[in-house]
Amino acid sequence: MSVTVIVGAQWGDEGKGKITDYLAERSEVVVRYQGGNNAGHTVEKDGVQYKLHLIPSGILYPDKICVIGNGVVVDPSALLKEIEDLKAKGVEVKEDNLKISDRAHVVFPYHIKEDELEEKGKGDEDLGTTKKGIGPCYRDKTERIGIRMCDLMNAEVFREKLKKNLERKNKIFKDIYGEEGFDFEQIFETYREYAERLRPYVTDTSVLLYNLAKEGKKILFEGAQGTLLDLDFGTYPYVTASHPVAGGATVGAGIGPTMIDNVIGVVKAYTTRVGKGPFPTELKDEIGDFLREKGYEYGTTTGRPRRCGWIDIVMLRYAVRVSGITSLALTKLDTLTGLEKIKICTGYKINGKIIEDFPASLEELKMCEPIYEEMEGWSENIQDVRSFEDLPLNAKKYVKRLEELVGVEFSIISVGPEREETIVLRNF
Ligand code: IMP
Repeated sequence: MSVTVIVGAQWGDEGKGKITDYLAERSEVVVRYQGGNNAGHTVEKDGVQYKLHLIPSGILYPDKICVIGNGVVVDPSALLKEIEDLKAKGVEVKEDNLKISDRAHVVFPYHIKEDELEEKGKGDEDLGTTKKGIGPCYRDKTERIGIRMCDLMNAEVFREKLKKNLERKNKIFKDIYGEEGFDFEQIFETYREYAERLRPYVTDTSVLLYNLAKEGKKILFEGAQGTLLDLDFGTYPYVTASHPVAGGATVGAGIGPTMIDNVIGVVKAYTTRVGKGPFPTELKDEIGDFLREKGYEYGTTTGRPRRCGWIDIVMLRYAVRVSGITSLALTKLDTLTGLEKIKICTGYKINGKIIEDFPASLEELKMCEPIYEEMEGWSENIQDVRSFEDLPLNAKKYVKRLEELVGVEFSIISVGPEREETIVLRNF
């Protein structure tokens, strides 16, 4: 049995799409277990670009089963658009290769409106969400008023639940925000139509995954966002509302922790984040601009420029600990080409005291001064390099030093956006 979980080890956007795509080719089943269409990655295959938000990247291979687990929140209009776009590009999306959990919660237009109004209401203290209604949908889930796929499939149950929710939500929109609410019939009819289009894909995916694992199928769990955006382990409250850490795969897909064999942490050769919140190694200078432009650091979902900074070992050790990462995949090493000096943050200092573990308190994190180790850069183009030995000496030294500091080996090094621009150090 080989069950692998891929997690982002930073604040998301680590390049998980490319690594997932690479590993998906070697898997039989690919599963999303959390988040929604707040995530996004671009995969290039045979010269065609695919932008995926909800559907696992395995969909580009006709023989893979792709699963949207119960831990994902599904916006049906976004999902159906993604399905149509894929079909238009010749990708087969059928009930045999796409499965959606009947326990997954559904995103409604009122969630998106709540997200927008709440962010606006917070003024300067907004979280910088993607405004896709993700947080409000998860909130309804924990409030026990959420509407799941199985409810959407049953017209009477759906009618009752939607009616109750809209009464309550419309009152909030009117009384608190002075805004128009939503028309019941319009949402009901639109979502009934969505339900019929999605029905062929909806099933009990926990049962499906259990049986596939028992048959010895290779299963890949594709985490969205990253460790530092995890609801518990991220830089709370500047986090997403789900669990991108490896443990999220068990709850978000309905498999037991004993079924997981490997956890691959995806790490970018530097750090980026979108949205707000403290970022100890952030570079607000020309090196930050260099990383943003050279690494195309603009959000796939929102187009927002990403904040850029040096790699942070305190953060990576933390990610390794909370997800039990067994190997790392290093991405975008090529972006660093051309920098004279490269810094690695090896620890933090608060008022002269060294901090080794990532703090819970944002007030502490804001006070953390990074301790840097400086390394020599390289200027040679590395995009054509396919073996570790052929990397420039200083690039090898950088990778080896990261490994030494984090204490976990790299299994993959990505040196460019294309699939073949990859150095594989361990077979999967
Ligand atoms: P939400 O997930 O839309 O609620 O946004 C909460 C926080 O997570 C914000 O800081 C977002 O910018 C961030 N976020 C959500 N999805 C992603 C992602 O895929 N990559 C990077 N940041 C994300």
